[in-house]
Amino acid sequence: MLVDGVAHRTIWLAPDGRDVEIIDQTRLPHDFVILRLETVEAAAHAIRSMQVRGAPLIGAAAGYGMALAMRAGPSDGGLQGAYDLLMATRPTAVNLRWALDDMQRLLAPLAPDARADAAYARAAEICDEDVAINRGIGGHGLDLIRAAQDRNNGATVNILTHCNAGWLATVDWGTATAPIYLAHEAGIPVHVWVDETRPRNQGASLTAWELGHHGVPHTVIADNTGGHLMQHGMVDLCFTGTDRTTATGDVCNKIGTYLKALAAHDNDVPFYVCLPSPTIDWTLDDGVAQIPIEQRDGAEVSEMTGRTADGRIETVTITPDGSPVANYAFDVTPARLVSGLVTERGIADASHEGLRALFPEQE
Ligand code: MRU
Repeated sequence: MLVDGVAHRTIWLAPDGRDVEIIDQTRLPHDFVILRLETVEAAAHAIRSMQVRGAPLIGAAAGYGMALAMRAGPSDGGLQGAYDLLMATRPTAVNLRWALDDMQRLLAPLAPDARADAAYARAAEICDEDVAINRGIGGHGLDLIRAAQDRNNGATVNILTHCNAGWLATVDWGTATAPIYLAHEAGIPVHVWVDETRPRNQGASLTAWELGHHGVPHTVIADNTGGHLMQHGMVDLCFTGTDRTTATGDVCNKIGTYLKALAAHDNDVPFYVCLPSPTIDWTLDDGVAQIPIEQRDGAEVSEMTGRTADGRIETVTITPDGSPVANYAFDVTPARLVSGLVTERGIADASHEGLRALFPEQE
């Protein structure tokens, strides 16, 4: 999508055709910085430190991480070492495992000297597939926005979103934002309520930044505001992303998503989850019990980083010295609270039957 009028993806090959370039998302919204990754260790660091983040982009970055590893050492040991290193970076987004398994299945049977070229080609394909999947999600989600506009007699459609499931969380388009960008391009009046999404502020820092650059009307709200807005008829639709969805439709997403789904349910606001198929974990049937929830450094809760009036980026502490802090990064919204799963193949009921009807090959 657009940054200062120029179309960008979040990850691409450097001009030498070997290194990989990314947008350093830890520097947004204040600085737009491109980082060059030359090794699998740099790719693992980028995922762990959230220079790249968001389930689909984590998968794409892992694909290119494998390619960088194969360039340096394509032996069987090099392949397994790269797989293990990347797999250990973040536990919740299932796209990481999906991409690594995909790469390993492709590369393991090949002779070592054929692995690097094959890995680069497949990593590029994973990126292109992600773009196509999100564009597909966008088309189906657009139907929901059009229907909401009809219900509103043509007035602006207000959409609430949580975290960043925008193009920055994917290779392009985003999952939850793809329908919004398409609606905006089609001239449908949309306005996005952007949850700030503590503690890492992906909404305030990333979603607001990308919507702003693309010209989509939006308002940043404190995380606790959504229920109030819904009670007062100020939200027509909720669209979120997901980091892992079970075969039964339980949705794991950024911490706080569950509370938004509860508020939506209580206020009859449709709550849709935009779900690319690589984010479905077909091996699980109980999200609350089975999905590993990442716990991150407490400093993400006890500290805040921002820009001072004179332009410096500073980090300050906001909790009393000595207060313990917990930092659960994700939660699970049970399928019963989800109005539908917007996939690239259509909108599924959030259930085993609904997902299998769209993905019969998983039977
Ligand atoms: O911890 P992050 O920033 O990697 O969070 C993941 C996400 O971006 C969100 O949970 C998102 O809504 C799902 S990924 C499209």
